[in-house]
Amino acid sequence: MKNVKKVCFLLVFAMLFSVAAQQVYAKDYVIGEHKVPVTKPDPASTYVGSEKCKMCHPDKYDDWKTSGHPYKLLTPAEAQAFGIPFPDGYTDKDIYRVIGGWGWKSRFIDSNGYIITKTGAKKNVNGSNQYNIATKQWVDYKPGVTLKYDCGNCHTTGYSLTGSQDNKPGIVGTWEEKSITCEACHGPGSVHVSKGGGKGVGILKTDSASLCGNCHTRGADDTKIIAKDGTFIDHHEQYPEFLNSPHKDLSCVSCHDPHKGTHVGQTNPTEGAGIKTQCITCHAKQNTDFTGSTMQKAGVKCIDCHMPAIGESATGDAAKFKADVKTHLFKINTDVNAKMFDDAGNFANGYVTLEWSCLNCHNDKDKAWAGQYAKGIHKYVKGQASAEAAAATPAPQKSPGFEVFFAVGALLVALLVRRR
Ligand code: HEC
Ligand code: HEC
Ligand code: HEC
Ligand code: HEC
Ligand code: HEC
Ligand code: HEC
Ligand code: HEC
Ligand code: HEC
Repeated sequence: MKNVKKVCFLLVFAMLFSVAAQQVYAKDYVIGEHKVPVTKPDPASTYVGSEKCKMCHPDKYDDWKTSGHPYKLLTPAEAQAFGIPFPDGYTDKDIYRVIGGWGWKSRFIDSNGYIITKTGAKKNVNGSNQYNIATKQWVDYKPGVTLKYDCGNCHTTGYSLTGSQDNKPGIVGTWEEKSITCEACHGPGSVHVSKGGGKGVGILKTDSASLCGNCHTRGADDTKIIAKDGTFIDHHEQYPEFLNSPHKDLSCVSCHDPHKGTHVGQTNPTEGAGIKTQCITCHAKQNTDFTGSTMQKAGVKCIDCHMPAIGESATGDAAKFKADVKTHLFKINTDVNAKMFDDAGNFANGYVTLEWSCLNCHNDKDKAWAGQYAKGIHKYVKGQASAEAAAATPAPQKSPGFEVFFAVGALLVALLVRRR
């Protein structure tokens, strides 16, 4: 009896101790915009670096190297190997790290750790400090502003809020390894490695979308999709979009292999390479309907309508309804009066509207035109609308106010574009 009590006491003590240890740890390491504490797989775990994981998981390592994650922060030499030029007035000697440049754009950190916002031979020209890969153009990012690099919680592994990496005054916090490495998603791996690995041995593995949501989000509220200039969705908002989508009960890894590249980038030549489950695997009926339709024969794909690039990272053309990050909202609202953003232009409404779904290709048409065809579009065959599609298609409704509304809308968009 006495022994049982003793064991119980020890167990409770051990539990309290491990909770306390977690809390101490939680203060040290953070992840994402919400500064979520990293969970430790084992109280003794520390970071060992991705090269250690390569020894026993060479396939995962090679896959991961094709994704954007390992290349979030680059040394000047790594950036040069990717063909990224430096801002006017700077050489590799004046640059500490290059931020991004794998997929969309690059920004640059100077030798004191500040984000470069002034360029030119005398470093007194405001702007021309962001390099866009698709257009090979220099554009302005917060021109002339003194800007600390405080982005490490989403761009590095084992990030701590205290101190400054390499004692650079412009850098907020320190990290164990630059970029998004194995241990950013699996937790520090020293115990796993020293015990020779194994399932559940000193390592984390989770399928939860909230893991990805730590970084693929923006702002304090994951349920809100923040707009950019009232015209686009801002980039890295895949998690808020997903939470507003019909797929919210799935996970990111229902469709994605988390180790492989998906976007076309420096180390991934194939669009969608990292998609392990295609739309048609889960939506066989829609695939059957779509097969043989005019657009299927013309090479249009499910994602062209359901995942248009509404998000803007580097480039976007509001008048053509085309930006550079594909949306994860999936659901199309076929109402011609539905709006992509709320009236104040602060947030997206949570579905894809017809101008984004159709007019980025049919840019000689308008939304009212798209509205006539949207319902039953999967089966649409030019010139011989199927009975079902015809039944589902309401008679072309020409509300007289619509043209006026569209003209005013187009004018506003044009004004916005000119302001940018
Ligand atoms: C000494 C070899 C070795 C090293 C080094 C190693 N692992 Fe493992 N790991 C294994 C073995 C063995 C398994 C079990 C594989 C299995 O059963 O399929 C495993 C399993 C895993 C799993 C799956 C865990 C689960 O519960 O299913 C993950 C995730 C993992 N390792 C990540 C890592 C990471 C991250 C690193 C680097 C920090 C790493 N491993 C380093 C040998 C190693
Ligand atoms: C962006 C987050 C992320 C990164 C970075 C990442 N992993 Fe994973 N890994 C995951 C997730 C999520 C799973 C579970 C996948 C699933 O269930 O489909 C996983 C699964 C695994 C597994 C188990 C595979 C299995 O079949 O059970 C191993 C081993 C592994 N990862 C090793 C690594 C190694 C090694 C690296 C670095 C080279 C790495 N991971 C980088 C998110 C990541
Ligand atoms: C909440 C997490 C988060 C924060 C904070 C964050 N980023 Fe990012 N960033 C991301 C994600 C995720 C992506 C890629 C996905 C996307 O753009 O939709 C990205 C992409 C980028 C890219 C383009 C990468 C490429 O390969 O082209 C640049 C450049 C960039 N961020 C710079 C910054 C800077 C500078 C800061 C700080 C002022 C910052 N980010 C803060 C998560 C974040
Ligand atoms: C610690 C922060 C972080 C976490 C956690 C994270 N990501 Fe990312 N992710 C990023 C950043 C930053 C980028 C931009 C990298 C670049 O462009 O070099 C990115 C880019 C991507 C890309 C576009 C580049 C490519 O390889 O195609 C995909 C897809 C992606 N992440 C999927 C995921 C998935 C799925 C998960 C969860 C399993 C996840 N990410 C977890 C920060 C993160
Ligand atoms: C892993 C399975 C899976 C994959 C892959 C998948 N979906 Fe879904 N999808 C679902 C589930 C589950 C639902 C919610 C239940 C339902 O409404 O059918 C759903 C719902 C939807 C809806 C809303 C249905 C409605 O009735 O309003 C659309 C649109 C959709 N998916 C499009 C896509 C597209 C496009 C792709 C490919 C990019 C895709 N899905 C990939 C499982 C999947
Ligand atoms: C030309 C644009 C377009 C293409 C391509 C397209 N869809 Fe759709 N899809 C729509 C529209 C518009 C709706 C809304 C129809 C409605 O509300 O009647 C829709 C509705 C859906 C729905 C909701 C349920 C339903 O049947 O109404 C699912 C699921 C779906 N699509 C999946 C897919 C899949 C899978 C593919 C590829 C095989 C695909 N779609 C290709 C435009 C498209
Ligand atoms: C229903 C399937 C599905 C789910 C769930 C899903 N994705 Fe995707 N994701 C895709 C597809 C399909 C693409 C585009 C592939 C292509 O370009 O061919 C994509 C592309 C991306 C991209 C690159 C965007 C671009 O413009 O190239 C990122 C980043 C990303 N996903 C992150 C995530 C994250 C984070 C989650 C979870 C919050 C998630 N995805 C959930 C199917 C999915
Ligand atoms: C990726 C580009 C793309 C997207 C997105 C797209 N289409 Fe198409 N669409 C085409 C192509 C290509 C054709 C074939 C033209 C031809 O052969 O006449 C076509 C043909 C059509 C036609 C028959 C041509 C005609 O003038 O009568 C209709 C109607 C149509 N699309 C409606 C839509 C609607 C509605 C949407 C949105 C729900 C949409 N399309 C989205 C590319 C696209």
